[in-house]
Amino acid sequence: MWKPAEKLKHKAEPGVWPSADEAAASRLFSPVESGCFRLAQRTWVPAMVPWRATEDGFVTDDVLDWYEAMAKGRPGGLVIEATGIRDVPSGPLMRIGHDRFIPGLKELSNRVRAASNGETKLFIQLIDFLAIKRRPPKEKFIRRFLAVDEELRRKIGALDWPEEDVRDHLLGMEDEDLDTVLDERTRESLRMGYRERVTDLNLPHIAELPRVLPDLFADAARRAQQAGIDGVELHYAHAYTMASFLSAKNTRTDGYGGSREQRARLPLEVFRAVRKAVGDDYPVGCRFLADECIDGGGTVEDAVYFGTEFARAGMDFLSTSRGGKFDDAKQPGVGQAAYPYTGRSGYECMPAYISDTFGPFGRNIAPTAAIRDAVRAAGLETPVIVTGGIHGFEQAERILCDGQADIVGAARQTLADPVWFRKVRLGRGSEVRVCEFTNYCEGLDQKHKMVTCKLWDRLDMEETDLRRTPDGKRRTTAPAWCE
Ligand SMILES: Cc1cc2nc3c(=O)[nH]c(=O)nc-3n(C[C@H](O)[C@H](O)[C@H](O)COP(=O)(O)O)c2cc1C
Ligand code: SF4
Repeated sequence: MWKPAEKLKHKAEPGVWPSADEAAASRLFSPVESGCFRLAQRTWVPAMVPWRATEDGFVTDDVLDWYEAMAKGRPGGLVIEATGIRDVPSGPLMRIGHDRFIPGLKELSNRVRAASNGETKLFIQLIDFLAIKRRPPKEKFIRRFLAVDEELRRKIGALDWPEEDVRDHLLGMEDEDLDTVLDERTRESLRMGYRERVTDLNLPHIAELPRVLPDLFADAARRAQQAGIDGVELHYAHAYTMASFLSAKNTRTDGYGGSREQRARLPLEVFRAVRKAVGDDYPVGCRFLADECIDGGGTVEDAVYFGTEFARAGMDFLSTSRGGKFDDAKQPGVGQAAYPYTGRSGYECMPAYISDTFGPFGRNIAPTAAIRDAVRAAGLETPVIVTGGIHGFEQAERILCDGQADIVGAARQTLADPVWFRKVRLGRGSEVRVCEFTNYCEGLDQKHKMVTCKLWDRLDMEETDLRRTPDGKRRTTAPAWCE
């Protein structure tokens, strides 16, 4: 993963833990309500893909264990990982693109309800993404995938050569010379692997995204509702389709790109279709980027505009993230796919303990506060959720009391200790297993391996009936904790 040049080591410092009475009186553990969106406390577990579904996207026992463990911590809101809205093979990513996925998701919502004593509201993050291919071997790319057109022929002085001779010639060229004759997109496909863009209007299925996505999202949301899930979070963040529509790099010329208004058009149309499908009493919100954190990408000003428009349109909550883009991803190895959390923007999304002077904790607080201020200035009460490096009660309480956000999200801290919110609420904060922000978990995510926390494996490995990962080396769930 990319690291800031300063390479300063920061240690997670959760601060002083409250007594049970102090926790009971805190803002963090107070309810929040806005329209149909109600949480018993202002704690939130944002979406995390743990790579535990079946190869065809169904809920498994490992998926159930993962969410049950976090539900025992009784967070106000718990978001099920990014779940694909299309009925197409997507590897072991959870899916909701067909009614056959409803029973598994129903079991999941029942499990969460029981484990949290009915206190946690369960949401599901709905995702659409575009095609991305693995980085090809050079020979295979030049022999099979490269389009030999007139411009390329002209560049190498081979206008009338047989096509095979052109390919032979290109294969014999040094990499630097080859780079000078290939256009930017072709060069990217060779060096990084082919990746579709929302701006590829020459591809019919990309051109028609604004026609097909509202119904796909709406159908998925209706299934979530049928599965007993309490609300949906539209995934408008990171490297995926909807974030690419919002991106400052979206230059579509069909009314869905260019100005901020046009970039927000499809996300708003998707929201309206979802709202129509699930009704006014079902919470619908989105996760979007407070900052794209890439050269030429959208800034906090863009996010302020989007957040205000989403709230004005009637979204029930706004959750922010930052970065996580393909644009600055590192070159993958041959046979591997690019991963959007390997560049600077990836670091901004999941900052690790080796950081700059600001450090990895709370990098998204100020941008999120700016969004919230604008939403409030527009006269709207939409709750705003902030996430990023938050791992202590005092820090969370300060964010809420200073009016920087309404709800506090913690992803990796909850992965490290799925019941940490409950421990804090009971005045047993000293028992919290504090995340070290090493990103070991994120490395597993990158390889699409079952995600676990490295801290789990230091404890109680001799437990009987311990479930382990397929290689037998890691435990699949956090060490048990007795209330
Ligand atoms: C293993 C893993 C998987 C993640 N999957 C998702 C995801 O499905 N959707 C999403 O919006 N963010 C995802 N994230 C990002 C987190 O939700 C969160 O924004 C990020 O980790 C920063 O918050 P933290 O410092 O509290 O961990 C993932 C993070 C991790 C570590
Ligand atoms: S592996 Fe565990 S300690 Fe390390 S960042 Fe992930 S959750 Fe935190």
